Amino acid sequence: TLDRTGRPEAGIDAGDLVREDRIHRGVYSHPEVFDLEMRRIFNRTWVFVGHESEVTNTGDFKASYIGTQPVILTKDENGEIRVLVNRCPHRGSIVCREAKGNSNFFRCPYHGWTFKNTGDLVGVPRRKRYPEDFDLSELNLQQVPRVENYRGLVFASFNPEIEGLVGYLAQAKPYVDAFLDLSVEGEISLSAGANQHEYPGNWKFQMENGVDGYHAMFLHDSFFKIQARSQDRVHARIASRDEGKGWTEAFSNGHAILAREAGDKTIDELKSAHPEYFARLEEKHGPERFRELMAQMNIFIFPNLYLILNQVRVIRPVSPTKTVVNMYPVMLNGAPEELNEQRLREHEEGFSAAGFVGPDDYEAFACVQEGLKAESVEWLVLLRGIHDEKVLENGSRWGQPSDETPQRGQYREWRRLMTMDGEAK
Ligand code: FES
Ligand code: FE
Repeated sequence: TLDRTGRPEAGIDAGDLVREDRIHRGVYSHPEVFDLEMRRIFNRTWVFVGHESEVTNTGDFKASYIGTQPVILTKDENGEIRVLVNRCPHRGSIVCREAKGNSNFFRCPYHGWTFKNTGDLVGVPRRKRYPEDFDLSELNLQQVPRVENYRGLVFASFNPEIEGLVGYLAQAKPYVDAFLDLSVEGEISLSAGANQHEYPGNWKFQMENGVDGYHAMFLHDSFFKIQARSQDRVHARIASRDEGKGWTEAFSNGHAILAREAGDKTIDELKSAHPEYFARLEEKHGPERFRELMAQMNIFIFPNLYLILNQVRVIRPVSPTKTVVNMYPVMLNGAPEELNEQRLREHEEGFSAAGFVGPDDYEAFACVQEGLKAESVEWLVLLRGIHDEKVLENGSRWGQPSDETPQRGQYREWRRLMTMDGEAK
């Protein structure tokens, strides 16, 4: 039912566009696919909207998105974190134009309606010109119905019936815990802010890429060469590739991991660089768990969150061929300043606009989007390692580090949600 441009002749059947080992080019460029993704994926799942450390004080707020829908994360006077829809009930303007800040009120820039950070409409200019029975309480900012905070990671969902967040994290949860446990006192902090990239390509390129062990050895080769010459860059833990056992895993709900265990060399390097901090961490968790925490992990939580090496990365789809990515260097609470400082420098070195890692990926995504304009070739191939993918006891699927096991898992979930009728499950 697809014409040669990948457009469906009559309506979209997303099920036709994704097979176990093939993806149709229309998945990355078709406007109808994108619209359906926003409704059937981003409106149905838990979506990461921000971190507790971004709204620490009463009145703090941060603008965010659920798919393409603007929302605001606020901390109200009772200390409750809320997620409000950033859309004035009057005639539709966003009410919050700042990326972040502190205010107990939002005043709409268009006609000046004013809302508390709980969402309540509290002021309407020239109110007398409204009918007498005009009821302000019916015109509050909408609340996103479900909000949950897991160890500082705040997720929201437009799906009132969605399962609890912990259940949703499924087999990825122990890895999420390991990522967060790197902070010795309390939880991690994203207080250093983010650097933002916008790339001319589909959001799923980033979804696939963060757990793609295949491209690293080729696309990032120059980075590994530079790194090999440097002595003190061990905290990003982009470890030497011959060290520790690596693997990929596709979990339930589209989550995935690309991981490499820490070898003795990495552990020794870390310990000798910051002996006190890592001794505290090891004491807190015991040597076995400590080794797990030192592993190199790229954890994907479907559909928009990565916990990746020393950063939190958030994917925001803008249009079929435009995506914004926010990368937050993760600061460790209880760590000496030099350690966090070093993590920041490494983050810049890898992922700033002039970094050695991130920009190469974004360039590759632009290349793919350009290549997909070749209409005569319809399918992309997702075959790598399919012949010896293993199903583990916990139901996840296991592959070698450079296999396309995680991507096949992501698209199984994509297909499941995209072919499920209705707006919410
Ligand atoms: Fe917000 Fe009119 S659109 S006050
Ligand atoms: Fe990469």
